[in-house]
Amino acid sequence: MPKIAVIPGDGVGVEVIAEAVKVLKEVDRLDHLGLELVRFDFGAERYLKTGEAMPPGQIDEFRNHYDAILLGALGDPRIPDMAHGRAILLACRFELDLYINMRPVKLIHEKLCPIKNKGPEQVNFVVFRENTEGPYVGAGGFLKKNTPDEVAVQQSIHTRKGVERIIRAAFEYARKHGLPKVTMADKSNVLRYGHDLWQRTFREVGEAFPEIEKEHYYVDALVMEMVRQPEKFHVIVTENMLGDIITDLGAMLQGGMGMAASGNIHPGKVSLFEPVHGSAPPIAGKNIANPLAAILSAAMMLEHLGLHTSAQRIERAVVQAVMQDVVTEDLGGRYGTREVGDFVASHL
Ligand SMILES: NC(=O)c1ccc[n+]([C@@H]2O[C@H](COP(=O)([O-])OP(=O)(O)OC[C@H]3O[C@@H](n4cnc5c(N)ncnc54)[C@H](O)[C@@H]3O)[C@@H](O)[C@H]2O)c1
Repeated sequence: MPKIAVIPGDGVGVEVIAEAVKVLKEVDRLDHLGLELVRFDFGAERYLKTGEAMPPGQIDEFRNHYDAILLGALGDPRIPDMAHGRAILLACRFELDLYINMRPVKLIHEKLCPIKNKGPEQVNFVVFRENTEGPYVGAGGFLKKNTPDEVAVQQSIHTRKGVERIIRAAFEYARKHGLPKVTMADKSNVLRYGHDLWQRTFREVGEAFPEIEKEHYYVDALVMEMVRQPEKFHVIVTENMLGDIITDLGAMLQGGMGMAASGNIHPGKVSLFEPVHGSAPPIAGKNIANPLAAILSAAMMLEHLGLHTSAQRIERAVVQAVMQDVVTEDLGGRYGTREVGDFVASHL
């Protein structure tokens, strides 16, 4: 009886999660999964009303009583510093130690790819982004803030343990799925300390995976190759900020932000699944947001929970929606968010 926390969040998050939940309920009915979906109103509205992003002890409740979290998106123009977003999403990532940010870049049909002559066979890889370290830990400070002599320091933290476990996760994924190569991206030619640690760790961890080819790219060359020859890649592993950037490019290769799903994972523990996109305020509330990224994130969540057949059902229905052009306008379609969700739910 998997127990799932559902946090629609803000903006289009609310709309796309409504469709993901619709699909989950239908797959639950078909496959008798016994899913328990518990909705939480965490987001900008609640934060502005109460001054609180989540009640105290919420992270512990997720950790101890839930199997997974499904999140829409957080972000609201009324909270420009994203205080509530940090307090919810980053708190989950850091406090639940969700160190794997897994982002598949999987093209469903060549008509969705902006690069000519690239189809599903050429664009099919997974990015493993380190999710708990790098420049996102909030280490740093200001000197003489708001003066002409201001100094800002933002430190990037890389620990042996943190680097090792994400690299190992990437190799283990490649082994489990019979993939021939793991590529690491860094900027070790200039970041001589932190990324040197990545280099050494990649070599050492890789020794335990002799059957898997190891490849390295500086991140600037990697993004070039992602466009020129995406078929070269199977699994890419990288640090937090580079992964953030790489995966937006990856999202474009597969049809845009409306198609990119992700998991924030700690193997064996409660993990969080969400579309890569944000709350997209300009298109919120208009029934035009693409729900497929959220629906595919729900499928990733089921796969993570070991419900492979149900996850496959959802993926196949999403492929059908794309094939039959039952898609939103970002993919050139004429259907609304709800109509696309209805189609997927009725083609499981
Ligand atoms: N994980 C998260 O919750 C998350 C991630 C990124 C951004 N944000 C927040 O979201 C807000 C908006 O950020 P942004 O504009 O930089 O990024 P965004 O992802 O919301 O939007 C980027 C572009 O993609 C489009 N887009 C996004 N989702 C779409 C969908 N489902 N269907 C069709 N088009 C879609 C938008 O219209 C926009 O053109 C900000 O507050 C930001 O901080 C949150």
